[in-house]
Amino acid sequence: MGGTRTAAELDQEAAVRRALEDFYRDGRPPWDSGVTPPELVALTEGPDALAPGQALELGCGTGTNAVHLARHGWRVAAVDLVERAVRQAREKAAAAGADVTVLCGDATRLDEVGVPGPYDLFFDLSCYCGIPPHRRDAYAAGLTKRAAPGARLLMFGYGPEAFDDPISGVTADELIARFAGWRLADVTPGTNPVPTFWFTLHRAATA
Ligand SMILES: C[S@@+](CC[C@H](N)C(=O)[O-])C[C@H]1O[C@@H](n2cnc3c(N)ncnc32)[C@H](O)[C@@H]1O
Repeated sequence: MGGTRTAAELDQEAAVRRALEDFYRDGRPPWDSGVTPPELVALTEGPDALAPGQALELGCGTGTNAVHLARHGWRVAAVDLVERAVRQAREKAAAAGADVTVLCGDATRLDEVGVPGPYDLFFDLSCYCGIPPHRRDAYAAGLTKRAAPGARLLMFGYGPEAFDDPISGVTADELIARFAGWRLADVTPGTNPVPTFWFTLHRAATA
């Protein structure tokens, strides 16, 4: 999937990967709060909780939210690009006694990762918004291929204004354009000082 990549695209992917690896090498990355956001808690607890099924987390970092899902009855696979993050996520799951399959791989190349699905829930906490634009169609196609009828994608992302670089960030219009066969059901602004959003997308209930 994705065809021939240009040298510039390869450079961009390598630069993003290096930057992410540096964050994990330097210790605890700034985003690693260790706290599950209320937007995900609302899907796992209380009156609006979903019936647990199969979940896939994209860009799971050190696994806080994958563990949360598993503790709430979900069968969870979680993927991250950075080996060091994956090791920490596995340790966190083991320490919590949570049954989570944590895999090192690229969320835009899921065919290479071994996550066949189908999944009822996809969760992405600021992974997609950092993915280079030329890989984003492949990300959407990978989820669409693995989505159970009526599947849900809960995604948190930074708006493009939040970044100095021209490749990062996500908008509602972009998701509508890229996720064919999905419906953007909700966009709720985040509470960060820069523009952030919680996006909820639903896959059609019939294929
Ligand atoms: C901003 S961090 C958020 C991590 C985690 N979701 C959290 O909130 O703690 C983005 C994560 O996505 C991962 N990531 C970025 N691009 C990825 C890709 N193409 N495939 C898989 N993981 C990716 C990074 O390694 C990093 O762990």
